[in-house]
Amino acid sequence: MKIPLLDLKAQYAPLRAEIRAAMDEVCDEQQFILGTRVQAFETHMAAYCGAPYAIGLSSGTDALLAALMALDIGPGDAVITSPFTFFATLGSIVRLGAFPLRGHWGQGWTLGSAEKVLSPPWVWCDI
Ligand SMILES: Cc1ncc(COP(=O)(O)O)c(C=O)c1O
Repeated sequence: MKIPLLDLKAQYAPLRAEIRAAMDEVCDEQQFILGTRVQAFETHMAAYCGAPYAIGLSSGTDALLAALMALDIGPGDAVITSPFTFFATLGSIVRLGAFPLRGHWGQGWTLGSAEKVLSPPWVWCDI
């Protein structure tokens, strides 16, 4: 049996009508940048997360970059990430001049595990 990694058609099908209606509204209003929908999303997301603010961004890559920039990540920093992730994760870390460390941890992962990962010798990888 072939199991696809990602089946976008199957994900889209049950949401199609809702997505099409929302796209029609945006196109009818010609409000493509920020606007009331983004404000509503940010307000709803902040409330959902119990946070004072939420910011809508244009992509997952921008979200990763914004989070890393908020932490002042840059040259000389190492960022531990999962080896099972999209290439944008490593790309965002490298773009800021930091070094990505791919941690191979399991269920028993702790901050102590992170210290081990951060201790040399590191396993360098070309990306
Ligand atoms: C885990 C993960 N991070 C980042 C991204 C990048 O998101 P975007 O393509 O919206 O920049 C993706 C995209 O699939 C992702 O799966």
